[in-house]
Amino acid sequence: MEILETAAALQAQTETWRRAGHRIGFVPTMGALHEGHLQLVKAAAAANDVVVVSVFVNPTQFNNTEDFKLYPRVLDTDAEMLRATGCTVLFAPTPEQIYPRPTVLQFDFGPLERVMEGAHRPGHFNGVATVVSKLFHLVRPHRAYFGQKDWQQVAIVRQLVQDLSFDLELVAAPTVREADGLAMSSRNRRLAAEARASAPRLYQALQRAAQQLSAGPAAARAAAVAFLRDFPDIELEYLEVADAETLQPELQPGHAVVICLAAWLGGVRLIDNVVVAGRKEA
Ligand code: PAF
Repeated sequence: MEILETAAALQAQTETWRRAGHRIGFVPTMGALHEGHLQLVKAAAAANDVVVVSVFVNPTQFNNTEDFKLYPRVLDTDAEMLRATGCTVLFAPTPEQIYPRPTVLQFDFGPLERVMEGAHRPGHFNGVATVVSKLFHLVRPHRAYFGQKDWQQVAIVRQLVQDLSFDLELVAAPTVREADGLAMSSRNRRLAAEARASAPRLYQALQRAAQQLSAGPAAARAAAVAFLRDFPDIELEYLEVADAETLQPELQPGHAVVICLAAWLGGVRLIDNVVVAGRKEA
């Protein structure tokens, strides 16, 4: 595995691969890798000739400076994990490589970003779309891999790919969970013992909502919120029941339903979701 730090070196490498007819798989990350990331890398290695993994804590997608400062940065450990997982090139740029000049272009994804993460983290998806576009231009992948834990991010990137005609296949992989149900996340390593012990309640709340969905979205939401009320160390930021495609509260017949939440535990913000398949119409 090679580690590249400059945009020019990465572009030269991916150009060589393209000329040689290699299929390029790409896994964008912010590092502090866990099994969820590694499964994306393994899927990319199985379906492509070469795999690029980027590790870049993207400053423009953080609307909270403390969160950016505290985001775990463990590049040596990440590199060790990637070496064993089929990664061909680890791209680990400095901010200056990605942002030689401040960007001016603003993305607006309309209703898709007016809810959930977009509503609670102003500017977040503008930063995501900016960096993902830049990385797609540098890597020029045939396939790009994202985790469904960030359900709304996947929807936004799908729209980005469609609107800007990126010539790639977007692959979304299911959330990977710890044995107790907690969704794997780079932020989990910031949880103190007590918060870590409470964290599986988030998935349990989502499961309660999913069980109540046949009684309607309001009943589903109420069941999850009531469940979480018993755990005062969990501060719920939002819990939404939405159409899994449009992300809007109006559920379209036949569409899957996504139940998403964001919550704070001991100063750490976690998100999670479950998807319930759409029922066929009678
Ligand atoms: O999901 C993430 O880790 C980030 O949002 C991404 C896609 C790497 C862009 O910085």
